Formats: sequence, structure tokens, C-alpha cells
Amino acid sequence: MPKKHKRTWTLGMAKHWKKYKPYARPSKSELTVFERYFRKASRKHGRILILGSTPEFRDLAQKHSLDTYCADISKENFLELRKLMKRKKEAASSEKLIHSDWIKLRTHLRFDLIVGDWAINMIPVKKYNPFLKAVSTHLKDNGFFVHRHGVWYPGDRKKADIKRIVADFRKKHKGEDFYQVKGLDMFRYFWNWKKMHVDFSKYVPGIEELHHKGILNDAEAKDLEFQRPNKTAGLCASMLMKKDFDKKVDNYFKIIKEERSTDLWRKNVPIYVMKVKR
Ligand SMILES: C[S@@+](CC[C@H](N)C(=O)[O-])C[C@H]1O[C@@H](n2cnc3c(N)ncnc32)[C@H](O)[C@@H]1O
Repeated sequence: MPKKHKRTWTLGMAKHWKKYKPYARPSKSELTVFERYFRKASRKHGRILILGSTPEFRDLAQKHSLDTYCADISKENFLELRKLMKRKKEAASSEKLIHSDWIKLRTHLRFDLIVGDWAINMIPVKKYNPFLKAVSTHLKDNGFFVHRHGVWYPGDRKKADIKRIVADFRKKHKGEDFYQVKGLDMFRYFWNWKKMHVDFSKYVPGIEELHHKGILNDAEAKDLEFQRPNKTAGLCASMLMKKDFDKKVDNYFKIIKEERSTDLWRKNVPIYVMKVKR
């Protein structure tokens, strides 16, 4: 695979992460959903596994005094993203890093709670099965796997019309954040429906071109600008049709509940609450 197509998550991304906004990061409303499961685990003095180094989850884990592990392929990112935490001092003396690719995760530990934020969307679709398998073996029988991810619906498949996206934003959402209102439509505009991903090495220049041509104005382009490091990180974001995603999940987990935030993107970005199938 050419280097620019390699899915990765560089230190440059971690250093820019403070500029990323929801839905790239969990929103307040989404964190309210997640916190209910942190609380449940806390009543059992539980052990949590965070897939990646999401600062918001690490703060919640500290708040609820959970025995905290982060599984991250990059120690540098784990340390860099700690800088974005509110409870970084407490975290430095208590949380543990499992330095591993999620797909290769193999420890003797079993967790009461495993959480992930777009984690599965950071890997190619063909690796979803080994990812789900590795996670499932680390969850206790009565534990929860709570994961926020993107999915598409059949209606999303139609190619987005860029002029309509922009016109709708200007008519109905003036003064709002273009990324938060229309970011998923922009993904849709650049989506590769064969590979089921958006390739940021094409998306970022694509946005620049739309700006250059005057289709996006300065303010709209600026709202999308924070995603620029995705390009040099060689990042792709994968998403499946919801029914295909559910089928994959069903091999390893029972979906107990599909939680929804109050955010604009809630339909395409559900939070699944799952238990392991044995
Ligand atoms: C904040 S997290 C989760 C993703 C994030 N919410 C997003 O939307 O991009 C990103 C972290 O996951 C780590 N990561 C990415 N892919 C990984 C993989 N396959 N295995 C383990 N860690 C990975 C990165 O090193 C980074 O520190």
C-alpha cells in the first residue's frame, strides 16, 4: 500500500488535537451518555480499557476512580494527549498504557468497561473482524463495551451536491459551525463507496480546491481547516452501512442499546452499548 494511504495517527495529530471539535471528539451530550457507564463500573470499583488515549474518557475515568488502562499503538500520543486532560496530575500517577495495536491486543486482563471513540473507524473495514475479536476477548462476561462510531444509511449513498450543501447551510444555519452542521455531508461528498472510507489525502486538497473556486467562503473553509493534519497523518476514516456494521458486531457482541446524543450528527454517529457473546 502506498505510504500516503497508510492509516495512521501521528504525533502531529496529537499535537493538534486541541483544535479538533466534536464530532471528531466526544461532545458534552455524548459524554453524558458515556458517563452513565463509567458510574456503573465505578460502583464495582471496576477496571476500564480506553481504546486510544481520548482525553475526555481519561478525565471521566479519573473522576470515577477507575483502574485505568489505555491501549495505544503510540506512547508519544498517549503522553501528548494527557496534556489535554483536566486531571492530568492524578492521571500521571495512576493510568497505565498498554502499548499495542488494538488488533494485536493480547493481555491477561479482563475489563468491566471498554470504551472507544471512533476507534473502529480509524482502521480499514477488512480489519473490523480482528478488531472486534481482540476487544471481545478482553471484556468480562458482565462488562460493557461502549463505542461511538460513524455509520451510513441507504439514503446517504446518493452523491452529495456541494452547491446544495452550501446553500442549505447559508439558509438555515447562518453563524453556526460549518464542520459541525455539514461535516458529514462533506465526508459524503468525498466518500469512496467501494472502499467505504474517506481518504484525507484527497479530502484536504479537495476542500482547499472548493475554497479556491469560491464554492466555500472563507468562514466555511476555516471551520474545516483544523482537519488539515489528517492529510499528513495519512489518515482514512472508514464507515459502513449501518446494517453491515451491525452484522459484523453481531459476530462478537450483543447490542444492548443504541444511545443517541442530542447533537445534530446523532443519527450517523450512534453510541452502541454492547455485551460480549460467548
Ligand atoms: C483519541 S484516539 C481515538 C480516535 C479519535 N477519537 C478520532 O476520531 O480520531 C486516537 C488514538 O488512538 C491511537 N490509535 C490509532 N489507531 C490505533 C490502533 N490501530 N491501535 C492502537 N492505537 C491506535 C492513536 O495513536 C491515538 O493516540
